[in-house]
Order: sequence, then C-alpha cells, then structure tokens
Amino acid sequence: MRLSTSIFSLVFCALAAQKGLAEQYLGYSSPYSFDANYQHSSRWMTTMPSTTNLTHLSIPGTHDTMTSVIVGSIYQCQNLHLRTQLQSGIRFFDIRARLNNNELLIYHQNQYTQHSYVEVLTIFFNFLEANPGETILMRLKEELTALNSTIDFLTAFNYYRLNDPETAPGCAKHFWVPPTLGPTYVPTLGDLRSKILILQNFGSDPAEYGIKWESPLLSIEDDYDIPDLYAGLDEKFQAITSGLTSAHNGIDNNNGKLYLSHLSASVGVLPIEAAAGTKNGSVVGMNDRTGSWLQSGNGGRTGVVIIDFPGQQLAKSNQPNSLNNHSTPTYLLFHQYKYHTLYPKSKILYFLSKNQTPTSTSASSNLIKASHTHNTKSSNMITSSNTTVNIGMGRGAYEVTPDMPKPTPQPQPR
Ligand SMILES: *[C@@H]1O[C@H](CO)[C@@H](O)[C@H](O)[C@H]1NC(C)=O
Ligand SMILES: *[C@@H]1O[C@H](CO)[C@@H](O)[C@H](O)[C@H]1NC(C)=O
Ligand SMILES: *[C@@H]1O[C@H](CO)[C@@H](O)[C@H](O)[C@H]1NC(C)=O
Ligand SMILES: *[C@@H]1O[C@H](CO)[C@@H](O)[C@H](O)[C@H]1NC(C)=O
Ligand SMILES: *[C@@H]1O[C@H](CO)[C@@H](O)[C@H](O)[C@H]1NC(C)=O
Repeated sequence: MRLSTSIFSLVFCALAAQKGLAEQYLGYSSPYSFDANYQHSSRWMTTMPSTTNLTHLSIPGTHDTMTSVIVGSIYQCQNLHLRTQLQSGIRFFDIRARLNNNELLIYHQNQYTQHSYVEVLTIFFNFLEANPGETILMRLKEELTALNSTIDFLTAFNYYRLNDPETAPGCAKHFWVPPTLGPTYVPTLGDLRSKILILQNFGSDPAEYGIKWESPLLSIEDDYDIPDLYAGLDEKFQAITSGLTSAHNGIDNNNGKLYLSHLSASVGVLPIEAAAGTKNGSVVGMNDRTGSWLQSGNGGRTGVVIIDFPGQQLAKSNQPNSLNNHSTPTYLLFHQYKYHTLYPKSKILYFLSKNQTPTSTSASSNLIKASHTHNTKSSNMITSSNTTVNIGMGRGAYEVTPDMPKPTPQPQPR
C-alpha cells in the first residue's frame, strides 16, 4: 500500500516536474515564460499565401535575442539559444552588434554575450536554407561605441555583406534588398521568403539595407525604462495593452504599418522580473499579464510582439497554435476570418482544443461569423459550417499546415 502510494507520488511528481520545470528558471516561475522550446513551429509561415502582408501577421520576437549564455547577468533577457528560438517559431530578433577589434560581436550594453555577428548570420542562413518558406526580421542595432577598432560600423557591416567569405554568399542570397532607397511600404511575405528583412538601427536615413528602425512604416511600443516593480510595471502593462490595441486596430484598417510591441522592460527592474514577476510571486510579470490578456480574447492581430524569456503559451498566442493540444498540427495565425474574407476559396477549419466548443455567444468585437469549407481529417476539428467562434487569441479558424510530429522538449545548445 505504502509502496504503491510512493510509486504514485513518484510518477505524479515526475509528471508535475516535467510540466513545471519548463516554466521555471533560476527560481522564477511563470506559466508564460521560459519554455518556448516546447513549441515546434519551424514552418508556420511556409503554407501562408505569398500575397499576405507582413504587417498582417502576429509574429513572436525576442528582445536582446543573444543573451541566453550570460546567465544571472542583469543583462540577461533570454534563456533559449537562437537556434531554439527559431525552432519555436520566433521570427523577429533583436541583434545588437558592437565593433571590437574590427569585428562585430554581440553585446547587451557593455556585456559581451559570447556570440558574434558571423555566428548569428550563419544560424539564420542555415535555418532559411532548411526552411525556405520562412522569413526572418532582424533588428540590427549598433550597440554603444566601437572598442579598439579602426573601421566604423557601416564599413564592418558591408565587409560581412560583401567580402567575408563566410558570410557574403549568404548575405547575397538571403538579405532582402529594398526596391528603393528608404522603402515606402512593408513587403509581403512572398517578397520575403527565405530572406532576412533588416530593421536598420544604424547608418543613414533613408535606409539602404532594409527598413529604418525610425521609419514611419514602423509603429514601435518600447516603454522600457521602468522605475520599479509596482506602479512602474502597472504602467508598463498599460503601455503594452494600448500598443497591442493600436496594433489590432491599425492592422484591421490595413494602414500598412508594421507594429512592434515590446513586453520587455528594465532599468529599475531586472528584465527577468519584468518578464516573469518576482520569485516570491508578489508581482506578476508582463509575460503572464499579456498572455492572459490575449488568451482571454483581448486584442486581435498583434503585429510583432517582442518578448524576454518567452514561454510557449505566449509564443503560441502570437502564432497560429494548436490551442494547448500538442499532438495536433500547428495552425496558421493571421487572423483567419480576414484570411477567409480575402481568400474565400481557402480551406478554413475551426480548430478547437479538447473540451472547447464553438461559442455563439453575444456579439463583441472579438466574435465574428464566418463560413468555411469542410475537412474532416482530424477528429478534433469542428467542421460544422457557419459557426461563430471567438477569434481573440483563444479560438479561431485556422488554415491547416502539414502534420507536425508531437513536440518533445528540445535539447538546449549550451
Ligand atoms: C587593439 O588593437 C591593436 C591593433 O589591432 C592590437 O594590437 C591590440 O592588442 C588591441 N588591444 C586590445 C585591448 O584588444
Ligand atoms: C496589403 O497591404 C496593402 C497596403 O496597406 C493593401 O493595399 C493590400 O490590400 C493588402 N493586401 C492584402 C492581401 O491584404
Ligand atoms: C517579494 O520580493 C520582492 C522583490 O524580490 C520584495 O521586494 C518583496 O519584499 C518580497 N515580498 C515578500 C512578501 O517577501
Ligand atoms: C489532442 O488531440 C488528439 C487528437 O484528437 C487527442 O487524441 C488528444 O487526447 C488531445 N490531447 C489533449 C491534451 O487534449
Ligand atoms: C453558411 O453561410 C452561407 C453564407 O451565408 C450560406 O449560403 C450557407 O447555406 C450556410 N451554411 C449552413 C450549413 O448554414
């Protein structure tokens, strides 16, 4: 009796640990943080139509992308390696390069991350070679001033772009080249497949190599200077929800802007506290507040959401997702009712996770009505027509991508 109880507790603990582990990191615990490595979405853009406007997508991103190795530093903003971030579906990356001995190395302020620009580009190129239907957005920022160097940032950037045998062929193949100096519109997904769109946070304006970070084509929420854990974070959360609401409205109005909202914050708070809350739970972090806000149906299409320590629930709420059912295919985002309106012949499926039923509740801005064609391949797809579904971040109609294997946690490269 005693034995079986302990076996039960062992099994139970093992399961609980498996579940809990992923959401805990360095003593912090947060359902919407840390475990984006459980999400496998290396091809979520691939089956979307090429005419799709990039501005219409909800794209998960990371802030200070390369900081996973500097564990415990006040400059650490990530716990997952770049390759893992790509696998999990993240497509916006914040790359901060600083000249050191005439080489571009990745820094967060004065903290060297142990990574180089060459390494970042190589990982991007390999990913795009393996997944040519995807696109990558790279904010490339010149971080602080050069160290012990005789060339300037632009010269170094162009050296890697044109002359370095390790990176020049990849740059020629994968950097998106704007049709004019200072592009006047944000390209479509088709223009960007297999490409890196540089959000140019260096050099001259108009931008030569992408879209200028300060361009009017971008609408950026980045209220990062937070004085304290309390009122400061409450205000930050207001900035986030107002940014996401503007994004939703701007995108629905097809205003052509790319919205970028930062969930990240620092200065008077540690990035990890801002993201995941305090260790003792006295303050809830931005990831959990935003994740719950989105999943309870607020907002709509989000544009790019830039996150510290993202968890799969949060990354998924910005991508098409299998709504907590990991054994099902990954679904496309891109607020699907619009998709259906624009592409009426497309197959649209209402996918609802176990125990969810289509709602036909009262009208609200998050409820829409749409008809769809049938596809009964998978048992947990709701195939009845003209169902009203909540298309907030929770439930929706999704275009199907090919089945993906059941996710298993990915091993973490150091
Ligand atoms: C600075 O650059 C010079 C010339 O390349 C080199 O000899 C020297 O070691 C560098 N100093 C540091 C601190 O890296
Ligand atoms: C893409 O955006 C442009 C400019 O905002 C708009 O004219 C066009 O209709 C959009 N295309 C689709 C497929 O929504
Ligand atoms: C919880 O942690 C925060 C910051 O880490 C601290 O300021 C606060 O006093 C702690 N609260 C309790 C009840 O221990
Ligand atoms: C996920 O969906 C599959 C296929 O319909 C089903 O067998 C499984 O029980 C579901 N799992 C969860 C956790 O809902
Ligand atoms: C779904 O809606 C369309 C358009 O309103 C209508 O023609 C069709 O008959 C409806 N189908 C069902 C099953 O109600």
